[in-house]
Amino acid sequence: MTNDHSKRRQFLASLGGVGLGLLIAAPNAAAEEEADEEVSANEDLMREHGIIRRALLVYGEAARRARQAPKSLPLVELGETAALFRGFAEDYHERALEEAHIFPVVRKLKAPVAKLPDVLLAQHQRGREITDYVQRLAKKTTLGADADGLATALESFVRMYEPHAAREDTELFPAWKAALGEHAYVEMGEQFEDIEHRTFGRDGFDDALERIARIEVEFGLADLSAMTAALPPADAR
Ligand SMILES: [Fe+2]
Ligand SMILES: [Fe+2]
Repeated sequence: MTNDHSKRRQFLASLGGVGLGLLIAAPNAAAEEEADEEVSANEDLMREHGIIRRALLVYGEAARRARQAPKSLPLVELGETAALFRGFAEDYHERALEEAHIFPVVRKLKAPVAKLPDVLLAQHQRGREITDYVQRLAKKTTLGADADGLATALESFVRMYEPHAAREDTELFPAWKAALGEHAYVEMGEQFEDIEHRTFGRDGFDDALERIARIEVEFGLADLSAMTAALPPADAR
């Protein structure tokens, strides 16, 4: 886009005064500038999955601690992760966007992808039951006999949601975009922005990003370089 823009600027400069004025007034030039600043609907959905994946990373670490050292599991921050999941992922991303606007369109397609929303909806519902359970346990002062049950629930949640989001990114969202066509797709991007502002009263993504970043600090997950893999072992002889 930057290249196109600088090319256009060079072109405009070469036209001189009159031609420049005419071209700047052209409505498609203004529309192009505006579209540049907007986040498209699928980009919006996929970066929301980015927040969700970071919450799943916290759940994975929480499960590991629940199994190995339950007392080292920060229950308050686990509760905050579940609250973020409820508000941002379940009530907003899943219910207000996917279930309200994407599933109904994809269900009508004459293609195998039309079967996906039924499974995805069942997984949203199971996720909500697990979130209820995590929120109940996170209110306790210690996990006691619930530690194993929590670890299993969190592990199965991560195991469900990783492929869930991956299928949406690679199959559901592209099918939805293609079904809508260019104009309706751009309009949906604007509508998603409106829903976001109505739901959160501000930028829901920025707020969620700040919250998950704070939680990661408590779980010792904030340093990305610490996640760099070790060298593989030498080949066995
Ligand atoms: Fe979903
Ligand atoms: Fe999703």
